[in-house]
Amino acid sequence: MKFFIDSANVKEISELVSTGLVDGVTTNPSLIAQTERPLQAVLSEICDLVEGPVSAEVTATETNDMLKEGRHLSKIAQNIVVKVPLTWDGLKACRMLRQEKTKVNVTLCFSAVQALLAAKVDATYVSPFVGRLDDIGQSGMDLIRVIIEIFGQYSESINTQVLVASVRSPHHVAKAASLGADVVTIPGKVLRQMVQHPLTDKGLDAFLRDWHKTGQSIL
Ligand code: E4P
Repeated sequence: MKFFIDSANVKEISELVSTGLVDGVTTNPSLIAQTERPLQAVLSEICDLVEGPVSAEVTATETNDMLKEGRHLSKIAQNIVVKVPLTWDGLKACRMLRQEKTKVNVTLCFSAVQALLAAKVDATYVSPFVGRLDDIGQSGMDLIRVIIEIFGQYSESINTQVLVASVRSPHHVAKAASLGADVVTIPGKVLRQMVQHPLTDKGLDAFLRDWHKTGQSIL
């Protein structure tokens, strides 16, 4: 399973890349806005830091304008993936960008049939938002299960990867992995939570206490 970082914060991404755990990055207009920096500079710095795919979202809402923005974004670096919303215009833009061999992430997916539409237009990734579904009392992970089931029925013709987005906790990551999702995009805070377990801390304290009592040192 691939781990992407859901962030546009260059400092945070750089720190996390140094762990060797990061396979790619996803950004969105809200994450870019939080940086209070110019889009182009942020994206090219992220693309320099990360070898894998970096999703950059269009903000136009009509196909032709999405295409113009998508082509512009994809020139920033070879690892840019153009992100388009799951609308009619977004699907049409996805189809055309894919015909030009541009990688596309179809975002804001909240239903299995939407995911199927993204697959039909050959999206490279489809991003179902699990946390936002949980927020309205639906199960984001049930959606992931159904999408994976559907895509599995047509594995010879569907190449679209399921990118689990809007992740709020390590539990989301574990569940996405157990369902066989291709990618999960994780906020930095959640990635840091993933390493934590109270029994790890307790066990390490006990090992070190016992070791110090021996008076030895390894080096
Ligand atoms: C995905 O690509 C989006 O950037 C992201 O996961 C949205 O998550 P949110 O619901 O926490 O804003």
